[in-house]
Amino acid sequence: MQRLSIRNRYASLVAGAIIAIMTMQTASVAAPQPAADTLPIERSRILTQPGVFGVFTMFKLRPEWNKVSATERMNSAAEVAALIEKHKDNVLVDLYLTRGLETNSDFFFRINAYDLAQAQTFMREFRSTTIGKNADIFDTLVGVTKPLNYITKAKSPELNAGLGSATYTGDAPRYVIVIPVKKSAEWWNLSFEQRLKEMESHTVPTLPYLVNVKRKLYHATGLDDIDFITYFETNDLIAFNNLLIALASVPENKYHVRWGNPTTLGTILSPENVIKALSE
Ligand code: HEM
Repeated sequence: MQRLSIRNRYASLVAGAIIAIMTMQTASVAAPQPAADTLPIERSRILTQPGVFGVFTMFKLRPEWNKVSATERMNSAAEVAALIEKHKDNVLVDLYLTRGLETNSDFFFRINAYDLAQAQTFMREFRSTTIGKNADIFDTLVGVTKPLNYITKAKSPELNAGLGSATYTGDAPRYVIVIPVKKSAEWWNLSFEQRLKEMESHTVPTLPYLVNVKRKLYHATGLDDIDFITYFETNDLIAFNNLLIALASVPENKYHVRWGNPTTLGTILSPENVIKALSE
């Protein structure tokens, strides 16, 4: 009887220990993970993750900007830098210079954020800066990054390996290009297998350009009137031109109802240098 009760006590101790261990494990698994939007923004991480919103806002300076005093114009660079610093834990801000290369814009922002509302807050506050008050928005594009749909290891192993076989080796890119893309209803009504075939024919001619073109894709269907925002950085605009010609002649191109229009070409500079260039 006593032996039984000792055994019982032993069994209940063991059971208690198992429950305690399981509770600890559950607790550690279920412990609240910091939400992505509470992590400090790290450029290399946010630019490679899915589920990141991208907001592109193209601005044209008003003629009144030239009437702002030279000192105030030059102070704008520090004002914008301070705004970027203030929001650095919420959004990644890139600013590009298009003046001299585009008709309808002088500069544009690319804001990457885990939470779209944080990008909105940044852009709203930018409109209150001296330069923001003296600029009109020409265009805004909103999209979100996603994992690959088609050229995955499972669905297209050879091309997926091809994508991983080369990386950008050129000098630091000096140019940025943004091309909005919309596809037809016919495209969206193809079967997945047909679209996969078309995307394979898209990928084949692009592989040689991995060494001189960096790219990033944002999905925009339902968030904007386009389906994709394509973003590129390169130092070799002739290679980029050849890449676009190669893609113009694959059958997938027949499904584009918008390809650019506008294409935005600019130079990659620090935000301060963009504002300084616009203040001269
Ligand atoms: C180095 C150059 C490029 C490479 C390696 C490349 C590769 C790819 C790959 C692999 C995909 C499929 C993504 C997936 O599986 O979901 C894709 C999608 C796409 N690419 Fe490219 N691409 C390049 C340049 C371009 C250019 C210049 C454009 C022109 C605007 C473009 C427009 C697009 C679009 C819109 C999609 C999404 C299509 C869809 O999901 O229906 N790409 N690209």
